[in-house]
Amino acid sequence: MKDKWRISFGDLVIGDIAKTYFQRVFDKNWASEGDNVKEFEEKFAAKFGCKHAIATSSGTDADIVSCAALYDYGANRGDEVIVPALSFVATANSILAAGLTPKFVDIELETLNIDPSKIEEAITDRTRAIMAVHTMGKPCEMDAIMEIAKAHDLKIIEDACEAHGATYKSKLAGTIGDMGAFSFYTAHQIVCGEGGIVATNDDKIAAVVRSVKSHGRPAGSLYFDFQRIGFNSKMNDLEAALGLEGIHYFDEHFNKRKNNLYKMLELTEDLSDYCYFIKEEPYEKVSPHAFPLVLKDEKYNRDRLYKYLESKGIQCKTLFGSLPTQHNAFKFLDYRYGDFPVSEYVGKNGLHFGMHQYLSDDDLYFISDTLHEYFRKIKK
Ligand SMILES: Cc1ncc(COP(=O)(O)O)c(C=O)c1O
Repeated sequence: MKDKWRISFGDLVIGDIAKTYFQRVFDKNWASEGDNVKEFEEKFAAKFGCKHAIATSSGTDADIVSCAALYDYGANRGDEVIVPALSFVATANSILAAGLTPKFVDIELETLNIDPSKIEEAITDRTRAIMAVHTMGKPCEMDAIMEIAKAHDLKIIEDACEAHGATYKSKLAGTIGDMGAFSFYTAHQIVCGEGGIVATNDDKIAAVVRSVKSHGRPAGSLYFDFQRIGFNSKMNDLEAALGLEGIHYFDEHFNKRKNNLYKMLELTEDLSDYCYFIKEEPYEKVSPHAFPLVLKDEKYNRDRLYKYLESKGIQCKTLFGSLPTQHNAFKFLDYRYGDFPVSEYVGKNGLHFGMHQYLSDDDLYFISDTLHEYFRKIKK
């Protein structure tokens, strides 16, 4: 699949470390959750500085089990979880899959993250948690979100699926709130093929999440003893083999991606009359997940730019769109177009493409030249 694009969204190269862990699977004739998963969890927790890391079958499942853990903290079916209107669809889907209700809040144009100043007006007596999604690797304003959560006794689920290694005031994204969800899908920095993790520093939450991701059976109990509603959200040892190699190379890949991101921002600086680009504040480290841009005027025509880039071999994705008002799937929740103007604007005018560790300087110049060419044509 990846051969189709000169600039793909992400690439996976499978090396000797993963092969050694695959061999363990072959030697033991055991491919479900086992020693590789355990080692992956331990190494992830050590690398990302959290007390517990619970592996799941995907980032979506990491979100689902985090939401379902809220039932142990007073949530009832149908209660609400606050979530940004614009993010990858798995955020809202996971709230619904866990039997809860997404309560959407608009985002900020400059950060693409939930607008903290709009959270309080969305809180009701059924709100149980805030899902803070670090979109495109840019950390949310966690101080403001933590303060609101504390004042209203809400749990915080950080979705750090796109934010491996991002920091906010020296703290790693995904380890600041009560639970942090990570995804290891191919375009992400640690790759398992499919996989996820819930990170937490809380012993009780860790035990609940472990139970929820394994059918609701508590650790150490009789085999068919189901204490709470649960799922099969377990990672398997083949997936963990890839993830263990990903952790080994994490710093190297992160730094290469980060240099690519900085270089690309430099090369496109003169296009800032046309586009908003991602910014890094002095107190944060943006994770180099991808390269997002939002057009400053609809007349620059996002769909035309998207097609132009793809015609040159640069694989593109939109910036998700406003889930409640630009996607049919959430129509039944009865939101109206216009309820989330910023998300809707970004939904119409944003796109992103890959900024991964295998891109060379030549690739970056090629992307920059292609973007410049497009805007030159528009000017004529
Ligand atoms: C913000 C966000 N949350 C959740 C997910 C779901 O992760 P997965 O694809 O591993 O299920 C993704 C996937 O990219 C994501 O970007």
